[in-house]
Amino acid sequence: MSFDRIVILTGAGISAESGVDTFRDRNGIWSKVDYRDVATPEGFARNPRKVHGFYNERRRRLLGIRPNAAHEALARLEAAYGGSYLLVTQNIDDLHESAGSRRPVHMHGEVNSAFCEACGARSRWSGDMSINSQCPHCQTTGRMRVDVVWFGEMPYHMDRIEAALATCDLFVSIGTSGNVYPAAGFVEQARLAGAHTVELNLEPSEGCSSFEEALYGRATEVVPAFVSRLLAAEVDAAFERIVPLP
Ligand code: APR
Repeated sequence: MSFDRIVILTGAGISAESGVDTFRDRNGIWSKVDYRDVATPEGFARNPRKVHGFYNERRRRLLGIRPNAAHEALARLEAAYGGSYLLVTQNIDDLHESAGSRRPVHMHGEVNSAFCEACGARSRWSGDMSINSQCPHCQTTGRMRVDVVWFGEMPYHMDRIEAALATCDLFVSIGTSGNVYPAAGFVEQARLAGAHTVELNLEPSEGCSSFEEALYGRATEVVPAFVSRLLAAEVDAAFERIVPLP
């Protein structure tokens, strides 16, 4: 099978083997800290120091972390694939970019980006952030927050994502538990568009029954294998277009 319009969705599972914690696995992030305290606007209003501390720690832990074979396989797919391709990630890390993916869409934002609540500007941010941080654009102090989408907030780039889902012919979900909407609903939107749907995960996700095909295993094994298969099918299809079978 070859495809013309691919949408890929990734979650925390794709970065697990690089040493980035997932959220809902045993010893996951939400087993150690209450998401209401660190990933809601209400939690930020209640205790901004705690929230800054939480994301400063996540930003620091990313230093020195390298992308893995699954991130690299997707960068390879993007580079070699001739059709329309959209990589959507729920992850706030920069491992897709480090692996060479050119235009990942961060629907939940990025930990290395800051947002000023006074002027609305975004800025790249690498060090620690605090209640005394100053906006590089408007110089206002104390209104900076990490540019991450918290529970109860609208994810980014939804128009673009939904337009791609409405016309895709292949939807692949990688390393996500299918607990959080709207991402968990993407497979249904892709099915409505008539797309072939594939789940690549360590174990069946909450939405596993919605997928036509599934490969279970570690991302560093199943993603490169799937990408090689996909690219081989593309080559065959291209060959058939040139030399139609009798
Ligand atoms: N290879 C493949 N899949 C893996 C691996 C691995 N090495 N390790 C874990 N997984 C799978 C788990 O089985 C699980 O299904 O990755 C999934 C991770 O699920 P979650 O921890 O729930 O993370 P995710 O689905 O990305 O969370 C969605 O929820 O907390 C919010 O905003 C946060 O973006 C996040 C969203």
